[in-house]
Amino acid sequence: MTARLRLVVTGSQGQVVRALGERAVQHDVDVIALGRPQLDLLQPAKIFAALEAARPDVVVSAAAYTAVDLAESNAAEAHAVNAVGAGEVARAAASLGVPVVHLSTDYVFDGTLGRPYREDDPTGPVGEYGRGKLAGEQAVAAANPAHAILRTAWVYSPFGKNFVRTMLNLAATREEINVVADQRGSPTSAHDIADGVIEVARHLRSNTAPGGVFHMTAQGEATWAEFAEAIFALSRMAGGPFARVKPIPTSAYPTPARRPANSRLDNAKLAREHGVSLPHWRDALAVCVARLVPGEFRKAS
Ligand SMILES: NC(=O)c1ccc[n+]([C@@H]2O[C@H](COP(=O)([O-])OP(=O)(O)OC[C@H]3O[C@@H](n4cnc5c(N)ncnc54)[C@H](OP(=O)(O)O)[C@@H]3O)[C@@H](O)[C@H]2O)c1
Repeated sequence: MTARLRLVVTGSQGQVVRALGERAVQHDVDVIALGRPQLDLLQPAKIFAALEAARPDVVVSAAAYTAVDLAESNAAEAHAVNAVGAGEVARAAASLGVPVVHLSTDYVFDGTLGRPYREDDPTGPVGEYGRGKLAGEQAVAAANPAHAILRTAWVYSPFGKNFVRTMLNLAATREEINVVADQRGSPTSAHDIADGVIEVARHLRSNTAPGGVFHMTAQGEATWAEFAEAIFALSRMAGGPFARVKPIPTSAYPTPARRPANSRLDNAKLAREHGVSLPHWRDALAVCVARLVPGEFRKAS
């Protein structure tokens, strides 16, 4: 009998970390979440000892500075967490002789390409978050030859801070919501990411598929406005809050950080080399909304 795979994940309350914890039983793996204060990416000197004590078979590097707008005025911290900290996690994993699965983002691209991005398309982040994450990818790859870097996008889940929860919260008090309609991407469920991460981790551990950079998002694509409409249609059917969606251009919704207009990622390499293909975003969204509505989110009567 082979021992259960033991995944040690950075972070404790993040969307992907929590989803991995929820999926552990189904996949028959152990998931150990290692968050602050035991593991702080801003304290790289202590990372090795924390990971060593947790005895990983594979390290999953899911913690990150994810406040995209704040990163513009806090670039040093974003870089310290997403580049230096992530690199140190990968280096510690290498010292322990185990692979690392590292999560990255569509924000490493500038979003001007007219088709979904492939792994070997030129990067060109347009903000500090993306620059830090790209430096993190490079640090991870340099520190640990046994790595898989999984770029994902538009992550949501029943918990944490994400677009689905924001829309349902706003609909409780507003009849109409302005939503950007000229950025395209693939809304991706943290639980589906967790399934993909576990599969890739197994392959790295058993050396049955190659490492490298992979794109991993849900099937299908949408604009933020279409995503919002789908959330409200599902919520309405379940008796939850809903609102009218007013599509607006990005120029009408200024934010400190610029966002790529095209966030679509081509997932063919992941399917070919790891046999992993995430469900369509509409199917995954239905599962998430069914969990939130009418429980936490009820229509005010
Ligand atoms: N959210 C998205 O839309 C999106 C899109 C593309 C890629 N990604 C990438 O996917 C990964 C997972 O994202 P997510 O949505 O699950 O993130 P999230 O919900 O924002 O959670 C971030 C996690 O990072 C941890 N963290 C932040 N600073 C830390 C530090 N100094 N030391 C240790 N832990 C720290 C947080 O710790 P606590 O547990 O203490 O709060 C939390 O667990 C990240 O690498 C992110 O860059 C996310």
